[in-house]
Amino acid sequence: MAGKSVPIYHCWRRQLSAIGSSEALSCSLFSLRFIVPFINLSRRALLVICVFPFNLALTGMAQTAPASDADKIRLSIDVSKPGPKIDRNIFGQFAEHLGHGVYEGIWVGPDSNIPNTRGIRNDVVAALKALKVPNIRWPGGCFADEYHWRKGIGPQRVVTLNPNWGGVIEPNTFGTHEFMDFLDQIGAEAYLSLNVGSGTPQEAAEWLEYLTTTQPTTLVKERAANGHPAPYKIAYLGIGNESWDCGGNMTPDYYLSQLKIYSRFVRNFNPAQQGQQQMLKIAVGPGGPEPRFIEWTESVMKAWQNHQWSWDMNGLSMHNYTVVRWPPSFASVGFSETEYSQILKSTLDMEGLISKHSAIMDQYDPQKKIALVVDEWGSWYAQLPGTNPGFLVQQNSLRDAILAALNLNIFARHADRVRMANIAQMINVLQAMIMTDKEKMVLTPTYYVYKMYVPFQDATLVPVVFNAGAYMHGDISLPRVDAIAAKDTTGKLWLEITNLDPKQSIEIEATLAGSTGKSAVGQTLTAPKVDSVNTFEAPNTVVPNRVSTSVQGGKLTLKLEPKSVTVISVEQ
Ligand code: AHR
Repeated sequence: MAGKSVPIYHCWRRQLSAIGSSEALSCSLFSLRFIVPFINLSRRALLVICVFPFNLALTGMAQTAPASDADKIRLSIDVSKPGPKIDRNIFGQFAEHLGHGVYEGIWVGPDSNIPNTRGIRNDVVAALKALKVPNIRWPGGCFADEYHWRKGIGPQRVVTLNPNWGGVIEPNTFGTHEFMDFLDQIGAEAYLSLNVGSGTPQEAAEWLEYLTTTQPTTLVKERAANGHPAPYKIAYLGIGNESWDCGGNMTPDYYLSQLKIYSRFVRNFNPAQQGQQQMLKIAVGPGGPEPRFIEWTESVMKAWQNHQWSWDMNGLSMHNYTVVRWPPSFASVGFSETEYSQILKSTLDMEGLISKHSAIMDQYDPQKKIALVVDEWGSWYAQLPGTNPGFLVQQNSLRDAILAALNLNIFARHADRVRMANIAQMINVLQAMIMTDKEKMVLTPTYYVYKMYVPFQDATLVPVVFNAGAYMHGDISLPRVDAIAAKDTTGKLWLEITNLDPKQSIEIEATLAGSTGKSAVGQTLTAPKVDSVNTFEAPNTVVPNRVSTSVQGGKLTLKLEPKSVTVISVEQ
């Protein structure tokens, strides 16, 4: 939890099959900020940016900033130069036993008046199915390092406390079987976080034996007696959480000794997971202020480079919240353009952090076998007045939608290394997809971004070159636009463009190389104000609407609304 004043971080499955191209797909838009910070540039001499493919040096040039909204921003999209696959796992979710993230948010119990299936709310399941959630990280967070799985199985659950998050009662009614049932209902894969902080390797090993074995061991008979004779599939295993802080305040060397033991003894016995589908192990990676985390990434990656047969890892986690000040003090609603621009500026730090830690990883793992897994990210604001401070309840506005799009684009541009990410957190906590209040449920602006991005799951990144222009507010300078493009498995081209400018609309002209484009349709997400939110009473304030666009002779045109996230599909 500590160390949120400076962002943190982290990515993979491909190494088991085909390792992504070692050619670097570079997004110069944000990288360039670190070379020539916008802030040092004159207002009118703005740079140009590109999202460039394969080994090309940054292509940039100085241009005059657009004088009015009538000026076009031109994009050049080369469909004939596909890049790496945007792993669907970057759209992962995180559900911790924290506030109403699990209890009420997912679990209401089979006797509830709220419509449910075996205790799991039907409305939430339906909403999440529409997002095609690839994986869910559970049970924490800090909670994971105090979680003892046996308390959450069988007919008699052990009632404990949740000291990390408000000291409230933890009834353990949502345990292993309920989590796996929930995943099954929404069609997502399991990402379990092991208790390295206060648990033992034996406890963790027995959890995996209980979950994954087919032979009739005592634990397997217990699993069957608890209703699940067939083994479960556990796709991802996190070995600890923030072990440098709430997970036990370990040094890199101490953590490494734990990592080796857990990696060796916590085995997945599911026969279906012994080959290509094998469970991937994710080590704790960086998070918090430098220089400590350079050392952390260096230590873990160096140890991995020299690892023996007896231990291995497939991913390195990274945590990075957009918080600006610690403790979190920015309001999640009722803020001005100043806070809007400050938060967006801060969220773009994700690019620098990923680049920095990827560069370290490249030294020890040039083939990019180890994924950087950004398994906690998102906005972290002051809690809403009147809520339990330990429950991390905040509103979710149009600003969060734009913030989500910017981060997803950064992950996509780093697709060769960032192969998984989990926004914090799925329901009722921090930058949530869904908010609930007893029987009521509302979908947030961030939810709609995830829905609009579904076509990018496992699509192939396509290079986009553009002059981002600048949106200025006071002394804060931000790119005016951001964009990514990708080709899906049916060959359809998808383009996402974010207009960060809260006041000016933007005319877009995109030239398609390698495609003429037969037709185009799209959706845009915007709202009257940067702090517009969806509420139980007014759930449709920030929802996607159709946007008018056309494609002719290989040129696609459209007008972006101010402060908007737009996704266009082009039939080729
Ligand atoms: O997401 C809230 C908390 O933030 C998590 O429990 C912890 O890992 C991080 O510090």
